[in-house]
Amino acid sequence: MAGRTALLTGASGGIGGALGERLVAAGVRVAFTYGAHSEQAERLVSLARSAGVDALALGADLADPDTPARLVEQVTAQLGPVDVLIPNAGTATMLEYADVDLATWDDTLAVNLRAPFLLAQAVLPGMVERGHGRVLFMSSVAAFTGGMIGPHYAASKAGLHGLVHFLAARVAAHGVTVNALAPALVEDTRMFPGAGPDVPIRIPVGRYGRPEEVADLAMAVLGNGYLTSQVIGLDGGAYPR
Ligand SMILES: NC(=O)c1ccc[n+]([C@@H]2O[C@H](COP(=O)([O-])OP(=O)(O)OC[C@H]3O[C@@H](n4cnc5c(N)ncnc54)[C@H](OP(=O)(O)O)[C@@H]3O)[C@@H](O)[C@H]2O)c1
Repeated sequence: MAGRTALLTGASGGIGGALGERLVAAGVRVAFTYGAHSEQAERLVSLARSAGVDALALGADLADPDTPARLVEQVTAQLGPVDVLIPNAGTATMLEYADVDLATWDDTLAVNLRAPFLLAQAVLPGMVERGHGRVLFMSSVAAFTGGMIGPHYAASKAGLHGLVHFLAARVAAHGVTVNALAPALVEDTRMFPGAGPDVPIRIPVGRYGRPEEVADLAMAVLGNGYLTSQVIGLDGGAYPR
């Protein structure tokens, strides 16, 4: 991984923060993107620079369909071609199905599914040309179970699985892997700050996941050239498949 260039969206969030630290420690040049919260992305840039690794923080609204191509252009110009794409940013508004309005549906699909696709569409041709690349989407156990957030969220994450399988098959022979992680509840994130010691949902491990555990699995997937077209659950045993 050392010396590669990565584009990590949602770097201002819980999982993105932990993964950003792992990438920096592995010597990866990283573009950290954020939506409304710049501080953590800036902190990751400082961390990288003090470790002698090039990095930058970019604010970008991923609900805007023009953002993905612009981001890839900016990163390529400033850090080099993207070798590792991690569309990790996600939005989750908890709503019952009867209450999902058009704006919430469109925004959720735009951020959670359209932006990851447009980012992958922008970086894959270069990866194929260079004979190496990694794409790792951030799904959720909700894509399998329906989850608790709402139908818009579950559908947006399930859509990523279709992307994984379609894209992975197209680029596998060119040294490019495409996978997704599907965590269950991960605490210490803005999406799920935590619910104290009581775990209301049956999780055999008996606790919620940690951002560092998602980050560790992500690094293992990114380091493996033979693992592709997979959606890997990380759910404390909650959803055996
Ligand atoms: N936490 C969980 O329990 C859990 C479980 C399964 C899957 N996931 C998935 O894991 C990923 C990371 O989430 P997290 O748990 O780390 O939650 P988080 O702390 O809320 O982070 C979400 C990230 O997405 C960014 N984001 C949201 N909307 C955006 C937009 N319109 N434009 C640009 N960036 C936007 C946020 O940026 P700003 O804060 O700067 O706006 C933040 O960096 C998400 O895809 C989520 O669906 C989380």
